[in-house]
Amino acid sequence: MESAVKLVDGVHWVGANDRETDLFENMWPLPKGVAYNSYLVQGRKTALIDTIKTVSGPPFLAKVRELLGGRKLDYLVVNHVEPDHSGILNVVRQVFPGVELVGNKKTAEFLLHLHKVTDGIRVVADGETLDLGGHRLTFHLAPMVHWPETMVTFEHEHGVLFSCDAFGAFGALDGGLFDDEIDVDEAESEMLRYYSNIVGRYSVMVQKALAKLAGLPVEIIAPSHGPVWRKDPAKVIERYRRWSHWEAERGVVLCYGSMYGNVRKMMEAVAEGLVAGGERRLVVHDVSRAHLSTMVRDAWRYQAVLLGAPAYDTLLYPPMAHLVDLFERKGLKNRLLGIFGSYGWSGGGVSALKEFAGRCAWELVEPVVEARFQPAEEALAACRELGSHVAARLRAQAEPGKT
Ligand SMILES: Cc1cc2nc3c(=O)[nH]c(=O)nc-3n(C[C@H](O)[C@H](O)[C@H](O)COP(=O)(O)O)c2cc1C
Ligand SMILES: [Fe+2]
Ligand SMILES: [Fe+2]
Repeated sequence: MESAVKLVDGVHWVGANDRETDLFENMWPLPKGVAYNSYLVQGRKTALIDTIKTVSGPPFLAKVRELLGGRKLDYLVVNHVEPDHSGILNVVRQVFPGVELVGNKKTAEFLLHLHKVTDGIRVVADGETLDLGGHRLTFHLAPMVHWPETMVTFEHEHGVLFSCDAFGAFGALDGGLFDDEIDVDEAESEMLRYYSNIVGRYSVMVQKALAKLAGLPVEIIAPSHGPVWRKDPAKVIERYRRWSHWEAERGVVLCYGSMYGNVRKMMEAVAEGLVAGGERRLVVHDVSRAHLSTMVRDAWRYQAVLLGAPAYDTLLYPPMAHLVDLFERKGLKNRLLGIFGSYGWSGGGVSALKEFAGRCAWELVEPVVEARFQPAEEALAACRELGSHVAARLRAQAEPGKT
């Protein structure tokens, strides 16, 4: 999608699809690209809400100029200084001379150090309103969602919440901007991947921001990445409430690592136990092949996380160590955990997973299974038992009272 799109009278999407960048923040895969959303609000005065990462991609400035039709750009609202939204900020200032930047105290501090901006900033306080004439914009600070200076902007006349990274999703906009024009399941999955990878560590701050914004009559959620949500904004907000409280769907993600097949055999037995126990939603990832981004997303989605790995160099198999480190960094809570693995001489894999279990305070489901080299039939039986125990716990959680 390249043309400007009208959200409501006087408000247009003027963002850009990025279909060339492979990794967001040079880390998280973008198999379907990403969109940097920017919005132009035109009342008696005009304001651009955020910008985009680079001028080298699809036309952005021409679109803004055309919509302005010779009018002046009065304000540039900087909801977030991360370069995916502020990359071309100084170009915008050159192209639209006299444009006043709007941000909070932290925004001004960051703009000084990131873009050498020393003047032309209107510093607004939490809850302050800027009247464009026909469109009133109120700025609500949302610190650490996911940077300290982050804020959201609410347009009163049509109830448009310019929510910045909150409610954002990976994936370029393929011809449609609105949720009622696209495959919502795919968008929701990419929204969860974005949430868990980028925002999830700050879930408590997300909870605070949601509580603070609860009274706003939001009709349209216009984030800075991915689709605009207008069909049922309350449902989208509820999704964020669940994710930020680490609430999960019924299901299991099973991540395993294996060099020579011993742990893989154990994983197959755990999976058999899960299915025999009645579990139907199971996602298996090989930690050496699946991307951390996807495994973190699935752990955020499902109630149970099962981890299996060998000992390696007296420690945990490195790709699994990387995954559990990321779980800890992201602060994921309230999961069922199952662990298993294999060793040859003095171990180091399962013991490290047990230490992780102690630190993350998830509910550990027994048995913990550790085999020496190739798992014997008893170890495989214990793995099946682990699978069936996890399935039973999930059943019990789904139907409290019944066991
Ligand atoms: C490169 C390498 C390093 C290993 N380091 C250890 C170790 O430090 N401690 C240990 O008990 N076993 C160690 N082992 C043995 C493996 O943990 C054991 O063979 C295990 O069964 C491998 O499981 P897999 O077949 O699923 O890869 C190592 C094996 C390899 C290949
Ligand atoms: Fe960001
Ligand atoms: Fe962003």
